Amino acid sequence: METKIKSSRETLQRVSSISTMKEISQSLRKQNLTIGFVPTMGCLHAGHLNLVKRSLETCDRTVVSIFVNPTQFGPNEDLDTYPRQLESDIEKLETLGIDILFHPTQEEMYPAGYKTYVQVQDITEHLCGKSRPGFFKGVSTVVLKLFNIVQPHNAYFGEKDWQQLAVIEALVEDLNLGVAIIRVPLVRETDGLAMSSRNRYLSPQERQTALSLSRSLQQARDSIRQGITSAKVISKSIRQCLSEKEGTEIDYISICDPKNFTKKEEIRGRTLIALAVKVGPSRLIDNCIIEEF
Ligand code: PAF
Repeated sequence: METKIKSSRETLQRVSSISTMKEISQSLRKQNLTIGFVPTMGCLHAGHLNLVKRSLETCDRTVVSIFVNPTQFGPNEDLDTYPRQLESDIEKLETLGIDILFHPTQEEMYPAGYKTYVQVQDITEHLCGKSRPGFFKGVSTVVLKLFNIVQPHNAYFGEKDWQQLAVIEALVEDLNLGVAIIRVPLVRETDGLAMSSRNRYLSPQERQTALSLSRSLQQARDSIRQGITSAKVISKSIRQCLSEKEGTEIDYISICDPKNFTKKEEIRGRTLIALAVKVGPSRLIDNCIIEEF
C-alpha cells in the first residue's frame, strides 16, 4: 500500500511495493529524468543527508531507501536492536525535498523460499569481511536487488564504509550494472567522531572513549608526515592510543592498499588505514587515506 504525505516543499512519495517502485523508475527513465539513489538502513544522520544532498544537486529525481537488511547481520549481531526511527527519518527527508522513499518490508525483499545471493570475492576476505563473515554477501545481494528495483543512474555511498564501497564498485563493474557509483567523503561530528547510526548506542562516557578512533588516525597521519613509514610502528602507536581508555576492544587495525586491502609493511604510495573497534555495545569503524608522498 502506498501513502503520500505532505512535505514542506513538494510531496514525498512513500513506496513499499517492489512493483510500484519499478513502475515509477521506468516512467522516470521514459521521461529522460535522471534518478539518484541513496540506499540506507535508516536512522539518518548528517552523513546520510550529505549523500542525499549530493544526489539532489546532480539528479532530476532522488530516491532514498530505508531497509534494515537482515542478510548482512550475523547471528550474534545487532539486527533486532538496530535503531529504527522511520517517522523522524521521513521528516529529515521531507525537509531536504527528496522525491521518493522506498521502504519495503522484509517479506517483500526476501519472501519465503528466497534463495539467491551474490558474492564478491577476494577483496571481501580482509578487514570487515574477515571479522563479519557473510556481511558483504548480504550487502552485495541487497544492493543488487535495490539497483534492479530502483534502476538508478547514480548511487551515492559514503567513504566511511570504504571497503563496502570497493565491494559495490566491483559488483557494478563485474555484473555490468551500468550504475555510476559516487563516492562521498566521510562526515565527522565536530569533535572528530565519524558519524554512524551506531553512535547512538554509546553512553556519554563511551562516546568520549570512541574519540580515540579519530584521534589515533590523526596521530598516525602526523607521524607519517614526520617521516615514519613503518606500518608496524604506526600500527603499534594506533593500538596504544586505542587502548589508553578502558572499554575498547580492537577488532582490526589495517594498514593496506585502498583498492585490494592487502597488508602493507611500508607506507609508500596511496595507503588506507582502517580501524574497527568495539566501544561498549557498538562496533565502530573509521579510516583515513594517506595520499602518495
Ligand atoms: O551502508 C549501509 O547502510 C548498508 O550496508 C546498505 C548499503 C544500505 C545496504 O544495506
